[in-house]
Formats: sequence, structure tokens, C-alpha cells
Amino acid sequence: MGKYIIKGGKALNGTAYTNGAKNSVLPILSASVLTNDLSVLYNCPKISDTYIALEILKSLGACVNTENKILITDTSSINKTELPNYLVKKMRSSVIFAGSLLSRFGEAIIYSPGGCELGSRPINLHLDAFKKMGANIIYDNDKIICKAKRLIGTEINLPIKSVGATQNIILAAVLAEGTTTINNCAKEPEIIDLKNYLLKAGAKIEGAGTDTIKIEGVKSLHYASHTIIPDRIEAGTFLCAAAITGGEIVLENAPTCYLTAFLEKLKACGCRIYTEKNKLFLSSPKALLPVSITKTEPYPGFPTDLHPPFMSVLACSSGTSILSETIFNNRTKHINELIKMGADITIKDNHTFEIKGKPQLFGTEVSAEDLRGGASLILAGLAADGITVVKNSKHIERGYENIEKTLKALGADIEFEA
Ligand code: EPU
Repeated sequence: MGKYIIKGGKALNGTAYTNGAKNSVLPILSASVLTNDLSVLYNCPKISDTYIALEILKSLGACVNTENKILITDTSSINKTELPNYLVKKMRSSVIFAGSLLSRFGEAIIYSPGGCELGSRPINLHLDAFKKMGANIIYDNDKIICKAKRLIGTEINLPIKSVGATQNIILAAVLAEGTTTINNCAKEPEIIDLKNYLLKAGAKIEGAGTDTIKIEGVKSLHYASHTIIPDRIEAGTFLCAAAITGGEIVLENAPTCYLTAFLEKLKACGCRIYTEKNKLFLSSPKALLPVSITKTEPYPGFPTDLHPPFMSVLACSSGTSILSETIFNNRTKHINELIKMGADITIKDNHTFEIKGKPQLFGTEVSAEDLRGGASLILAGLAADGITVVKNSKHIERGYENIEKTLKALGADIEFEA
């Protein structure tokens, strides 16, 4: 079990590069299934979730080549429609392969991804939409078998905004007969990136990035090459790292326009932020200010995935802040670990947290229990007095490419032990 060993107290300074977005590359790898052809994807993050998605593709019979950050998939050789259970259990978002398999082969066999660190994360919206498009869904214990001769386009009204359901419906609709309209869909930049890849492959999609997406089914897709957008959550995490250590950094390849709500909160903490094309400059204040209320919301609101990193920043501020989590019903596992480091955080209910800033956190041994929560512990360690050991690195490796190398290059005293 890998761990990070951090000696806190060093201000981060310098330039960091933002890697490609995890939450873009995963649905786009699934979309490559639809092409029955080659896809070439640039700027792919070298993280364990990417490698799990590639394992899934290989298990289905696809050929996969990797060349540093370039992924080449050939999905013409796919001859299976069942996802391996052990890979579904490793990565919840593997359910995103269901829409593509169902759309291209008329069958997708998946497994229930189970409960998760962030609370209950059902996939009812995905399956209800497939049903509405004419699929038959059979539950066999943990196994979910989705079958349809050819999916039929229809109108789908999502009761809540769901990133994964919006993506899965797009993927299912691309090769369906007729037009599918999705109302109340999620508007995340990663959905627009999926649409952009699919358009290059020959799909007909309108409205991605708005509340309503229309997909006109086509008979087949073809070769496409695409560059994955930068990861706004990784970028936000590095900005928090600079802020919490009193540093000054420049982020290159920064997804500036996707971070507006988050940057407003960093500014409220006293950080000075300048943007120039795809460069973002952050300079921290002498003392971080508290922020009266921060509420996570679907895009373009404050992203839930930046709640844990931002909580660490607030835990080091000079007053009391409230953070309200509205997307997941139990995104709390990092809180007890932060408390072990001296943070003063009260869980009012599973959604509302009161954070009383402390002048100094202290290093101790803590455990990463999920991806973003794990990142929040590294950030707290960077600011803490003494040594912090963050165990269970596998969660952090899922979504951050060699985070220790980037932080070290910015001046942090951090080591990774496998
Ligand atoms: N939901 C349902 N039923 C469904 C689907 C979702 O009730 O069928 C609920 C969820 O339980 C949650 C809410 O809807 O309460 C929103 O979930 P959503 O479907 O939008 O989340 P997701 O697609 O499973 C993606 C990201 C997450 C990110 C969320 C919200 C990927 C691979 N994952 O998850 O990223 O937190 O959107 O923005 O895109 C992360 O990167 O650390 C991460 C967890």
C-alpha cells in the first residue's frame, strides 16, 4: 500500500502543467467503442483510472496502444459485451461503457458498481433511459443485462442533473434509430469534450453544454483523433496547494474558463488571481480569509470534486466558514482525517460542515479513503507542522498523475513510497 510522506511548511512556488481531464478521457474511451475503427487520443492523463478503462477495452477484445500521453484504440476487434466484474468494482465509472456497447452491439452486461465512499451512487437514471429507448433490462443478482435490437430515439427528462447519465444516454443515442432529446442534462465541460470527439467521429449532436441535448442517430461512426481538455479539478487542487502554503504559482494549460465559480472562492480567501490565455497566476495572501458559505452545485457552480481540497484551505484560514455539499449524500470521509491533523470541523449534517480555521495544523498519519479526500490530506500535510503520512495512495493515483512530482517541482518536501 503506497503512501506519501510530507514535511510541511514550504511555500509552493513556480510553474506547473495541467494534465488531461480524467472525467473526459473515461467517457471518450467508452465512445471509441462506437466507432468500430481507430481512435487517437492526445493529452491523456497517466492515472490508474485511465489504465482500468484500457483494461476494460482489452477485455472486450479491443486493441490498445499507449505512447506516453497518446492512446490509440482499435475497437473493430471487440467481440464481447460483458464488462469484467472485478474491473467494474475497481472503477464505478466503468458503467459508462454500457451505453456504447448497447448502442453498437445491442447488448451490454455490466455489474452493479455498489456503494461508494461518497454515498449511495445509484445508476437508475442510466438504466431508466435505456429502458425508455427500448432496452430490456434484466437483473440477475449483481449482474445487469441490457438488451435491445436497436435502440429507438425518444425524449428523456432527467429528474436530476447527472454527468454519467447524460454521457451514457448520449453514447446510447448516437447509433440509435431517430432522434433522442435529453432535458435537464448536465452541462459539465467534459460533456462538451465528449460531444466534440463524437462529432469528429461522425455523430450528430446539438446543445451539449446547455440544458437540452439533441442527438440524431447515425448508422455508424468512424476514425477520429482528439485532444483531451485539461483537468479543471487537478488545476483547482494545485491552486489550493499554492494557497494553503502561502505560495505563488503559474498554471500552464489551465482550463481558466471552466473554473470561474471556484476562482471566485479563492479570491474571497484573499488570493490574487490573473489569467492570460491558458495561463493562470495565483498569489496567496499573508493570511487566508474564511468564506462565509460555499455550496457545491452542478456545473457551472462550485464543483463537488473541489470541496475536499478547498476544505483544507478553509481549515487553515483565519475564521469560520460553512461548506455545503449538495451533490453527494456522504462526501465526508476526509473530514475525520483532517480533524486528526488538528482541523476544527463540525459535521452539522452529512451535507453541511462548519470549518473554524486554525493557525496551524500538525502532521500525523492519515488515510486516503477516496480520490479528492486523499488530495485534501496531501494539501493539509503541505501546510502542517511536522511530518504527515498519507496512506492508501491508490485512491489518489486514480485521478492525479504523479502528484508528488508536480508538488516537488513546486518546492514541496514530499516523497512517495510504494
Ligand atoms: N445519481 C442518481 N442516479 C443516477 C445517477 C446519479 O441518483 O442514476 C445521483 C448521484 O448519486 C449523485 C448525483 O446524481 O448524487 C450526481 O451524480 P452524477 O451522476 O453527476 O455523478 P457521476 O457521473 O457518477 C461524475 C464524476 C465525479 C463527479 C460527479 C459530479 C466522472 C467519471 N465522475 O460522477 O467525479 O463528482 O460527476 O460532478 O465523470 C471525481 O473525479 O473524483 C469524481 C467523483
